[in-house]
Amino acid sequence: MGRFKLPEELDFIRAGRLPQKYSRERMNGKVCVLTGATSGVGYEAANTLVGAGATLAIMVRDKQKAEELSKELKEKYNTEAQYFIADFSDLKQVRQATEAILAEYPKIDVLINNAGVHMTTRQLTNDGHEVAFCVNHLAAFLITSLLLKRLVESAPSRIIQVNSEGHRFNGLDIDDLTWAKRRYKGIKGYGASKTAQLMTVWELNDLLDGKGVTINAMHPGAVKSNIGTNNGLLYNLYSKYIVQPLLKDPKISGEAIYYHASSPEMEGVSGKFYNLTNEEIPAKHAVDRELGKQIFQISKELTQLDKEDIYEI
Ligand SMILES: NC(=O)c1ccc[n+]([C@@H]2O[C@H](COP(=O)([O-])OP(=O)(O)OC[C@H]3O[C@@H](n4cnc5c(N)ncnc54)[C@H](OP(=O)(O)O)[C@@H]3O)[C@@H](O)[C@H]2O)c1
Repeated sequence: MGRFKLPEELDFIRAGRLPQKYSRERMNGKVCVLTGATSGVGYEAANTLVGAGATLAIMVRDKQKAEELSKELKEKYNTEAQYFIADFSDLKQVRQATEAILAEYPKIDVLINNAGVHMTTRQLTNDGHEVAFCVNHLAAFLITSLLLKRLVESAPSRIIQVNSEGHRFNGLDIDDLTWAKRRYKGIKGYGASKTAQLMTVWELNDLLDGKGVTINAMHPGAVKSNIGTNNGLLYNLYSKYIVQPLLKDPKISGEAIYYHASSPEMEGVSGKFYNLTNEEIPAKHAVDRELGKQIFQISKELTQLDKEDIYEI
C-alpha cells in the first residue's frame, strides 16, 4: 500500500515539519537590499547578512531606528548598513528611496522585500490604497520593478519576497481592492496583499526567464515580532498573552532568508514558494495565472509603472 499523501491544500503541514536547510556560504562583496530591517524577521535577516560579510542597504521608515540599527551592526560586525528612508504607505517616498539606491549601487546582488503590516481595520493611504495592500504588495512590487534592470545587469542575482502562509486567507477581489464594497477583515486584507504578491512572483519569474535573476517567495515561519502592534491596546494584549507565546524565535527567519540569499543550492532556482527553506505548494487561488496577469497589470497601473519601459529587460 502506498504512503498516505496529504491533499495539496494541506501541503503546508508536510513542509512545516521538514528540517530547515542552512547556508554557511560567505557573502563578502555581495550587495543586498533589505526592507523592514528594524524589527522581527528583517532585523534577524540584517544580522545574518552583515554578519556574513554582505554590504547591506536597508529601506526603512524610521530614521532613528535606522541609525540605531546601523550603529548596532557596526559595533557587532564592524560594518554599517546604509539606510534609505521611505514610508511604504506613500509610493512616492518608496520610488524616491529606490532611485537613491540605484544612484548609490551600480551592482545589486540580492533584493529582499520583507517589510509588512497587519491591519485589523480598513485604512486608506493618502493615495487611496488599502494600507496592507500598499505596504505588503504595491511597495514591494514598485521596488522590485524599479530595480529589475539593475538586478539583470548584476546577474546572477536573486529576489526574495517575504510572503506568508497568510496568503491562504485570500481576500483578493480584483473589483474591490480597497474594500469599499466589503466589510474589512484583517486576516482577509492581509491574505489579499500576500496573494497579490505571490501572483506577481509567477509573472516576474516568466519575465526573468533566462536573465540570470531568480525570484522566489517564502513564509518566514510563525515567529515573535512586532507585527500587528499598530492595532491598539486590545490587540496588543491578545497578541502578547495568547499569540506570541506560541510563536518561535525569529532567528529561524533570519537563517532561512540567509539560505535563500546565499545558498549555492538556490542558484538558478526560481518561481517557487517556500515554507522557510522547504518548497511548498501554495494555495490554489494564488496560482490562478489568468487572474495573476490582471493583478500584474493593475499593480503596474497603481504604482504608475505602466507607461515605463522597465520591463523591457
Ligand atoms: N512574524 C511572523 O510570524 C510572520 C509570519 C508570516 C509572514 N511574516 C512576514 O514577515 C515580514 C516581516 O514581518 P515581522 O513579523 O518581522 O513584523 P515586524 O516585526 O512588525 O516588522 C515589520 C517591518 O516592516 C516595517 N514596516 C511596517 N510598516 C511599514 C511602512 N509603512 N513603511 C516602511 N516600513 C514598514 C517595520 O518598520 P517599523 O520598525 O518602523 O515598524 C518593520 O521593520 C512581513 O512581510 C510579514 O508579513 C511574518
